[in-house]
Amino acid sequence: MSILITGGTGYIGSHTCVEFIEKGFDPVVMDNLCNSKAEVIDHVAAITGVRPKFYKADLLDPAALEKIFAENDIDTVIHFAGLKAVGESVEKPLEYYRNNIVGTLNLLDAMRKHNCFKIVFSSSATVYGKPKSVPIKEDFPLSTTNPYGTTKLYIERILTDLCVADKRFSVALLRYFNPIGAHESGLIGDNPNGIPNNLMPYITRVAKGVLPHLNVFGNDYETHDGTGVRDYIHVLDLAAGHYSALKCLDEPGVHIYNLGTGQGYSVLDIINAFERVNGVKIPYIIAPRRAGDIAECFADATKAEFELGWKARRGLDEMCKSAWEFEKKH
Ligand code: NAD
Ligand code: WQD
Repeated sequence: MSILITGGTGYIGSHTCVEFIEKGFDPVVMDNLCNSKAEVIDHVAAITGVRPKFYKADLLDPAALEKIFAENDIDTVIHFAGLKAVGESVEKPLEYYRNNIVGTLNLLDAMRKHNCFKIVFSSSATVYGKPKSVPIKEDFPLSTTNPYGTTKLYIERILTDLCVADKRFSVALLRYFNPIGAHESGLIGDNPNGIPNNLMPYITRVAKGVLPHLNVFGNDYETHDGTGVRDYIHVLDLAAGHYSALKCLDEPGVHIYNLGTGQGYSVLDIINAFERVNGVKIPYIIAPRRAGDIAECFADATKAEFELGWKARRGLDEMCKSAWEFEKKH
């Protein structure tokens, strides 16, 4: 039996691939490489000593999915593949709905046809919209503020409806908070195309001198220093969360978990930690608030700890150090 990792050459998928290989699995990876590079497979092989079987394939191509399922005895899918840029999703909603939702429907069709009923889905804290309070628990109300987030919410609903209709399916909806950092080898990490939208890759490019300064989006929020607070989680802890989630798939139905640390840090906390740990300066200016941002977002991650035995272990210093090590190598 094999595990299929969709989006397995991407940022979180590649770290999860390493995690699964190190746990003794022999995963099959598929990705259309629209936001990653095939050489990531070389890097995974260099880290683990195992080269996962790789298909350059698109979720929007049912024939390609059929080939993957026909050639491999897949019993579980870890489903990362999707488009993830919030701003771009506002400009290109149809592309986002088609890629993320139609792509997932194609995947589910192929799974059902090949008697594969276990799936772990990459959801996001974005499905909580503007949360009523923090820390955020899994039973908080759901809403979204952009098409990207809406694709995540709709896919959660599709998977939930599927579990009601077909009792053979078991689904883990993992709602990630803010993944940052990289594998300690510096071989794999977050490598967005163009100017980064997210805080950490922007900081590492400022540190490298590729970008002149960081814009801190607002310092008048009701937080300890006025800047936005988020729950940053080391990508290796997140990857480990996927392994831990496998156990809940033994029971049919939907299983929902926040994957975060439960600890909030502000933008200035991140800048300060990055400067201290890496001995580099991050020039920044205070810029206006970014549309759609909220003041604070951090998880109550106790459900995953109690039910899955999973807990984020790595601290902010390790996140900042590994992110910089990766940037320096690229
Ligand atoms: P990523 O862009 O690095 O990885 C996604 C991968 O999916 C890419 O390699 C891309 O080429 C591939 N892909 C996209 N559409 C595809 C398609 N139609 N067919 C095949 N491959 C396709 O992103 P990531 O940060 O690793 O995120 C992985 C998942 O986690 C995504 O679903 C994302 O929405 C979700 N997520 C990410 C974050 C974050 O902050 N990074 C937070 C919450 C949730
Ligand atoms: C973090 C903090 C910004 C950039 C996004 C998506 C979310 C999820 C994770 C996928 C905020 C501030 C940022 C910059 C800054 N992705 N910031 N200057 O917005 O919490 O979440 O990524 O599911 O859906 O919305 O993450 O890294 O963009 O921002 O001041 O140049 O850093 O205002 O307070 P965010 P982020």
